[in-house]
Amino acid sequence: MTLDPALARLLRTMPKAELHIHIEGSLEPELIFALAERNGVALPYPDVDSLRAAYAFSDLQSFLDIYYAGASVLLVEQDFHDMAWAYLQRAKADNIIRAEIFFDPQTHTARGVPIGYVIDGLTRACDRARDELGIHASLILCFLRHLSEDDALQTLQQALPYRERFIGVGLDSSEVGHPPEKFARVFAQARALGLHLVAHAGEEGPPEYIWSALDVLHAERIDHGVQSVKDPALMARLAAERIPLTVCPLSNIKLCVFDDLRQHNLRDLLDAGLVATVNSDDPAYFGGYLSQNFIETFTALGLDANHAYRLARNSFEASFASPDEKAADIAVLDQHFADAGLPIPA
Ligand code: HPA
Ligand code: ZN
Repeated sequence: MTLDPALARLLRTMPKAELHIHIEGSLEPELIFALAERNGVALPYPDVDSLRAAYAFSDLQSFLDIYYAGASVLLVEQDFHDMAWAYLQRAKADNIIRAEIFFDPQTHTARGVPIGYVIDGLTRACDRARDELGIHASLILCFLRHLSEDDALQTLQQALPYRERFIGVGLDSSEVGHPPEKFARVFAQARALGLHLVAHAGEEGPPEYIWSALDVLHAERIDHGVQSVKDPALMARLAAERIPLTVCPLSNIKLCVFDDLRQHNLRDLLDAGLVATVNSDDPAYFGGYLSQNFIETFTALGLDANHAYRLARNSFEASFASPDEKAADIAVLDQHFADAGLPIPA
């Protein structure tokens, strides 16, 4: 099945926000090898092709093992800048005008990399993106849920000198067996600091994890959340409270959350009135950046230009931009549709 070329073009060119991208998951094999050479890090793969050949995952954990190995080449400030700058240039090609970017400090501090190198390098790339690409990029610090809450609390303390450099905190890594409530105290501290709160929930884990992300952590957005369809009461709440879901279709296929993109529930989430968005998660590992996620999902599910508008608009509404910034982003979107001669859906 191929997509109408005009719709494919719309999906590529429409202004959009990306709200679920792990910056370490944007490390392409070529950059992994270049950084390994620059830093004298030995990799367990002889070349780019054999590394890429290992990207065949059976579940979240099988991916995370390779993802953390890939991040081992990141050592100095310049590495974090180069990684984020490469992503932001790709974001520009997809007409992403706003990006809220996850980073995993514990993946680096556990190897002895100072958190300042991580945050300085990422911040420098985000500042450059604003000046040179016109992209509003901000950072969300994620805690690794397979580690202890004490480790997360320590990480938040280490990040405090950089409090103005990130807009929120999130929760990622191995989900099942590590429910949100394990991180109640560190999320309470982040909340008291005025940080935004998000959490991965309902990717592989049950709907109960989404409830506790909302009720215990006070998450404002749910990352993934696709398991919510198993719980009608939860669906009703997500719709009524307009709690956004940052859905990542190609990730869900690569990690075997759904067998096939045609079975993905994105259309059901939209039909139920949820503020669903499309995102790339770890694009270097999952076969595509944001526009590719849109194009493959629209092809598989038979979605149309009205869905495209709804998803782009949801991405702006779900962002942590100010009300004025959101209105400006949506005006840019509306103008894009008007210029394309497309009606703006109600
Ligand atoms: N889920 C959980 N943790 C992650 C992911 C994901 O999809 N990507 C990077 N860390
Ligand atoms: Zn994710």
